[in-house]
Amino acid sequence: MGEEKKILYSGMQATNTLTLGNYLGALKNWVHLSEDYTCFFGVMDLHSLTVRQNPTEFRQNAKKLYALYVAAGLSPEENVLYFQSHVSAHAELAWILNCFTYMGELGRMTQFKDKSAKHADNVNAGLFTYPVLMAADILLYQADAVPVGADQKQHLEICRDIAERFNGIYGDVFTIPEPYIGKAGARIQSLSDPEKKMSKSDENPNGAVMLLDDRDTVLRKFKRAVTDSESAVRFDPEKKPGVSNLINIYSSVTGKTKEDVEAEFDGKGYGEFKAAVGEAVADELAPLQKKYEKLMAEKSWLEERIRENDQKAAYCANKTLRKVKKKVGLTEP
Ligand code: TRP
Repeated sequence: MGEEKKILYSGMQATNTLTLGNYLGALKNWVHLSEDYTCFFGVMDLHSLTVRQNPTEFRQNAKKLYALYVAAGLSPEENVLYFQSHVSAHAELAWILNCFTYMGELGRMTQFKDKSAKHADNVNAGLFTYPVLMAADILLYQADAVPVGADQKQHLEICRDIAERFNGIYGDVFTIPEPYIGKAGARIQSLSDPEKKMSKSDENPNGAVMLLDDRDTVLRKFKRAVTDSESAVRFDPEKKPGVSNLINIYSSVTGKTKEDVEAEFDGKGYGEFKAAVGEAVADELAPLQKKYEKLMAEKSWLEERIRENDQKAAYCANKTLRKVKKKVGLTEP
């Protein structure tokens, strides 16, 4: 009925290649969300600078991430897929919002506490104000909804607090974003330590399946997946975290319910089950990898899309930024 679509914003840091967890937990759902929302998805390269990067690898990884967005099925014609650092409004709004954010609230961020413990030799100011840049990302596009995992919920809350504070002083400048709740993305755990989230920084290289792992590697990692001493394919995250994680993965890839999966493997051993999950994942990743290779081989097409999308993003972001500058009383150039 010609009703305008709501705006949805999200993005991933531009570091390293993605895991199956990033894909099933976020990317795959973004593809569905892009049918119902006007979507902006950023390659969050400015955020990645809070940790020291190797410039050459970093640049490559950022471009790879963009190609993975597209290969996973996000159309750069129907969504705005762009690089955060190509739109200077992000850094500008982040500065202004810094002046509306308190040290105390940033100090309470659990991710800041975790990351400063992990990178004790580099507790930089960017790490501290990370959530303010993230708030700028979201608010620049007047996003209504932000799909975020549990680890980012606190960041969305501070974004809302900052936006409400600003609106309280200057009137309705920012849309207050809601966390996107809906068909939540599957939370995928490590294959070698199912109590932990699947992560590219897993010490055990068999713990995380990478999106660009070839078929044999995928099968091998699933074959080695940690299970338990029982031998029943039954969903019970408390008592059977490994098997439950595999059920989650299988059901998320095939679209089957957990009950269907339990029934399918009733009376069958873990060996057969793990092989089936590996096959299903490899089948799911194959077309994505093929598309990725194709995109990387004909770079000019991708580069043209990047240019267009950077411009689309900048157009929207600058509209908000101009309004903000005017409200706070900065002079016009
Ligand atoms: N902090 C997010 C993460 O690490 C990435 C991110 C940056 C983001 N800006 C954002 C996510 C804005 C959603 C909206 O996952």
